[in-house]
Amino acid sequence: MKVGIVGSGFVGSSAAYAIVLRGAAAEVVLVDLNAKLARAQADEILHATPFAWPAKIGAADYPQLAGAQLVVLACGVSQNKGERRMQLLERNADIFKEVVPKVLDHAPEAVLLVVSNPVDVMTQVVTQISRLSPGRVIGSGTILDTARFRTLLGEYLGVAAQSVHAYVLGEHGDSEVLIWSSAHVGGVSLVDFAAQSKKGIEKDVKSRIDRAVRGAAHHIIEGKGATYYGIGAGVARIAKAIRGDERAVLTVSTLTPEIEGIGNVALSIPRVVGAEGVLMDLCPVLSDEEHAALHNSATILKKAAADIGY
Ligand code: 2OP
Repeated sequence: MKVGIVGSGFVGSSAAYAIVLRGAAAEVVLVDLNAKLARAQADEILHATPFAWPAKIGAADYPQLAGAQLVVLACGVSQNKGERRMQLLERNADIFKEVVPKVLDHAPEAVLLVVSNPVDVMTQVVTQISRLSPGRVIGSGTILDTARFRTLLGEYLGVAAQSVHAYVLGEHGDSEVLIWSSAHVGGVSLVDFAAQSKKGIEKDVKSRIDRAVRGAAHHIIEGKGATYYGIGAGVARIAKAIRGDERAVLTVSTLTPEIEGIGNVALSIPRVVGAEGVLMDLCPVLSDEEHAALHNSATILKKAAADIGY
């Protein structure tokens, strides 16, 4: 599979690096307004390939996206310290209005993977600009928040994050919803796990983990100016699902016809991802509180998109 990545900053280059390390593509093409940066990133990642999987990686312009099965959109501005993801909205929407038609001119068959923030509204913007079917425009959404949730819950419970099944739905951002009611470890509910292991999920544990997941990006940006390794690995996970037509269940964002009474809004729920993009949406059973929180998240996203005319 050939993957194009538009934007060679921290996020785009980390995604390229993770894709190469995972063997999630046979060829990666980096496109950036700053051609020198794209070239330097590609050259350096190329040097990692002998330690990973054979892959071609290079820097190029839009025409070289031809034949890409997946194009990752990681261009635009990112958050500064203390900034919320939503504050990037208008700046990144304007950039995408220019970038998306150029991508589609050369890679009309590609699945588009939106990573730039605020990722849900940007996914809605790209879906509408591109006029592609919603399943072909995927936002990385809460794939990273779900990973953060599983990591912290696994750490607390003393089991591998890979064995924790728990999801974060809604906005990739402040209104996201951690789904506790159906979280489980190897088929054992958290209540039963507590009874068997003496690791109780009390209110204070939940709120500590909730705060850590919701505030992860703020805390990391405070310390190092940006986040990129986690999302890079998340992008590689999605690329692998597309390359292998895996039909993996991932929390990604797409324009959703109706959710919690809100029509046409992009947000994350578990979705089946394969070669053509999103193949199916899954609706988990939620508690009343989770329904209300997801409704709130959908309302916020719908309004943010409407405010800029989408
Ligand atoms: C993150 O959650 C900033 O959206 C980015 O790491």
